[in-house]
Amino acid sequence: MNTSADSGQPVRIEQPAPDSVAERFHFLVNAPALFNAVVTALEWDLFGFLAKHPGASFDELNEFTGVPAHSLRVLLHAVCTTGLIERRADGTYHDAPAAEELLAPDGPDSWRHILTGWKEIYYPAFSRMSEALAAGTNTALAAHPGDEPTLYRRLSHNPELETVFHRSMSAFTLKSLDALVECEEFATVRHLLDVGGGDGTTSERLITRHPQLHSTVFDIPSVSELAASRTPAGEPDGRIRLHTGDLFTDPFPVGADAVLFSHVLEIFSGEQITELLAKAHAVLPSGGRVFIYGYNVSDDETRGWYSARLSLYLNVLASGKGMAYPARDYEDWIRRAGFTGVRTLTGYPYEHGLSIGTKP
Ligand SMILES: C[S@@+](CC[C@H](N)C(=O)[O-])C[C@H]1O[C@@H](n2cnc3c(N)ncnc32)[C@H](O)[C@@H]1O
Repeated sequence: MNTSADSGQPVRIEQPAPDSVAERFHFLVNAPALFNAVVTALEWDLFGFLAKHPGASFDELNEFTGVPAHSLRVLLHAVCTTGLIERRADGTYHDAPAAEELLAPDGPDSWRHILTGWKEIYYPAFSRMSEALAAGTNTALAAHPGDEPTLYRRLSHNPELETVFHRSMSAFTLKSLDALVECEEFATVRHLLDVGGGDGTTSERLITRHPQLHSTVFDIPSVSELAASRTPAGEPDGRIRLHTGDLFTDPFPVGADAVLFSHVLEIFSGEQITELLAKAHAVLPSGGRVFIYGYNVSDDETRGWYSARLSLYLNVLASGKGMAYPARDYEDWIRRAGFTGVRTLTGYPYEHGLSIGTKP
């Protein structure tokens, strides 16, 4: 309590309103520690256990995890402060509804895979953010062996980490994929070229939803191997083909009537994007379409936590360039490559947009 200088009466200092900048600040400065606590809780499967055993006691959680009781006490306190686990007055523990929905499931789109990838690959790199941004290049890549200029290529030296990375990436892709897959535009595509298609998750979902569709997934050799080893359950009739190569040094395969860049162009500079869109234009027939799917920062470049995280990750670690460009940038590049009817469909989850152009 402070005292007012005029009246000598106690002055009540108001708590910040929920979601005020001050409240966000206090959460933010503790977030790196709490983020890691949540990942530890995932690794110990606490959310999964509580989903099956709501109201478990401390002793039951201790027996389940097998970790020292004091460590569990410290971790549970940390996770309870986030609200993701609740400790009731009778001392029992429960998943919060959000944790039950987001963290307990273990399917391919689980946040478990996403957060493990962020913990192991993204966030260690962010300790070098000032250095990398000042240098204007991805100096955090030095932590990964090899001399290739991007994280995507360097991870081929570490297949285990590459698997973690692609599991994390495809889990996040799945979060925004339903909306893309339902887009009517794909109902009239016959053969899609999925450039930088990763482990084939996007193509697999698209051909499953659109029975007329075939897809060629173009990626670097180590990633194509990952795609092959997944043997997508949705392609028993061979409607997905894998094509290995480098986006810049190898030609795009011909025969497609649409080219999709999903979470790919954001990795690169405007100059490189112009080059890739020109290559897409060159292999498409008249009437062929280009699709760019990914994060779009808001037009005034002030909003979007997911877009901000992505842009920082790209510049500090992944490629040393690129960002979650605003839709208007993509539209300009698509027009410059010679496409017409350029537009962006907005309102997709996780700050995503779909920019489209048609070859005259
Ligand atoms: C962010 S991932 C996107 C994967 C997938 N399209 C999705 O939406 O989840 C980017 C992909 O581009 C691929 N890539 C990056 N640089 C490449 C290059 N020079 N040649 C071929 N593929 C490349 C990476 O291997 C990776 O699979």
